[in-house]
Amino acid sequence: MYIGIDLGTSAVKIALVDHYQDIVASTEHAFATSRPMPGWAEQVPEDWFRCVAAGLDELAFRHRDQMAQVASIGLAGQMHGVVLLDRNNAPVRPAMLWNDSRAAAEAADLNETHRELDDIVGVKAMPGFTGPKLLWLSRNDPQSLERACYLLFPKDYVRFKLCGNRSTDVSDAAGSWLLDQKRRTWSHQAIQACQAENLILPEIHESAQPTGVLDSELAKRWGLPGGVVIAAGAGDVAAGCIGMGIIDSRHGLVSLGTSAQVVVPSSSFRPHTEKLVHTFCHALPNTWFHMAALLNGTSVLDALSRWTGIVDVSSMISSVESRFDGPGELLALPYFSGERTPHNDSKIKGAVIGLTHSSTTEDIALAFIESLAFSLADGLEALAQGAEQPKELVLIGGGSKSPFLADLIASVLNITIVKHSGAELGPALGAARLARISVNHGTAESIITRLPVLRTFEPDLNLQKKYEGRLKDFRNLYRALRVDFGNGRA
Ligand code: XUL
Repeated sequence: MYIGIDLGTSAVKIALVDHYQDIVASTEHAFATSRPMPGWAEQVPEDWFRCVAAGLDELAFRHRDQMAQVASIGLAGQMHGVVLLDRNNAPVRPAMLWNDSRAAAEAADLNETHRELDDIVGVKAMPGFTGPKLLWLSRNDPQSLERACYLLFPKDYVRFKLCGNRSTDVSDAAGSWLLDQKRRTWSHQAIQACQAENLILPEIHESAQPTGVLDSELAKRWGLPGGVVIAAGAGDVAAGCIGMGIIDSRHGLVSLGTSAQVVVPSSSFRPHTEKLVHTFCHALPNTWFHMAALLNGTSVLDALSRWTGIVDVSSMISSVESRFDGPGELLALPYFSGERTPHNDSKIKGAVIGLTHSSTTEDIALAFIESLAFSLADGLEALAQGAEQPKELVLIGGGSKSPFLADLIASVLNITIVKHSGAELGPALGAARLARISVNHGTAESIITRLPVLRTFEPDLNLQKKYEGRLKDFRNLYRALRVDFGNGRA
């Protein structure tokens, strides 16, 4: 048995996986995000561990026999966070998240003064990355930095609580804007540029390496045996790829969760930063991936269901689907958190245009659903300029629950979309696979395979033609609104 823990942005998901790679049980525990100022996004690291512990308590209660057979635990998690610990290992301030855009001026400064770093750290500086946020702290909250001794990324805080070890893995370190991606080591030049020289950074491991052993008191609490290994694990994107067997450029990944990504692996480090594509270390040695990173995914639909009082997103999607007969009348932008690929624009916001007295909630919801598909199409197009074009894309994340969304994405992107079993728990499954390899219960080749296909979604060429024009309108709407959002009060 192996455990994969995925510290997402809104919840901790845990998968208990057996020797046949079947998910025997899973848990989900949600935690809160605070937004003390527009554009800021923070979480309390202790909340993460409280949710991890609640999930493992639940598994210990429901699956006692299987828990007694666990050999190792792997970690996956939200990337780019800033977790600062003081010399007694206590958090000095709330963690700053990947969708926190307060460091916009710092990212712009870094791009201005350190252009040579792009090709080392694999991507232009953007506000959500760890490095620019550290530079923001040095300018705006130097007291926190003075009290801080250690920097960790979110999942690595969980690791520290589980085994007392301050380590990370290459794929999570990749999102910090502090890593030399080619050498897979810290870049002292980037650390200096971000004013982070005084922090002790975590030790970097390849993702399937062991980093420590679970604390014996915690092992007792959860009915786990002694000596459970904690594997390095991976950032959520790389872990999702490992979960679905996406390890070379033949197959790409579309992850539609709180945020969204389009990812294509590569066997060499070939950054192409112009279109804001990220080139990061993958969770396998000598492997990297190209990623279009979109800051807005199902979080947009969550907001819409909150505003309209619709109980849940799936019933909202079903009612859109039941009236669907091609592109809607309205046009929306999904940029509630600004956007990274292909815009690097932290000022742009969400929008919906074309409203009339006869517009319905379903029309608005369809416009936002379409806007997510359009931004994925923008992501795939940005990738096409440097990465090899995959034959098909494997869909994971909460958005993969809806066949309607998968069909729409296939048509708008004009590419085959595949859904495998385990798609909704992709990163947790990937973390469990890395955990298994870390204890030598199989090789990467034998464990990181493709799971059974649940369903394939082919583009509907009729619909694809109809959406071509709407995609152009979507791009024009961004261009038109960018200026106003940039200059105005927003
Ligand atoms: C990737 C990204 C998100 C976060 C949260 O660049 O920002 O995937 O890791 O999921």
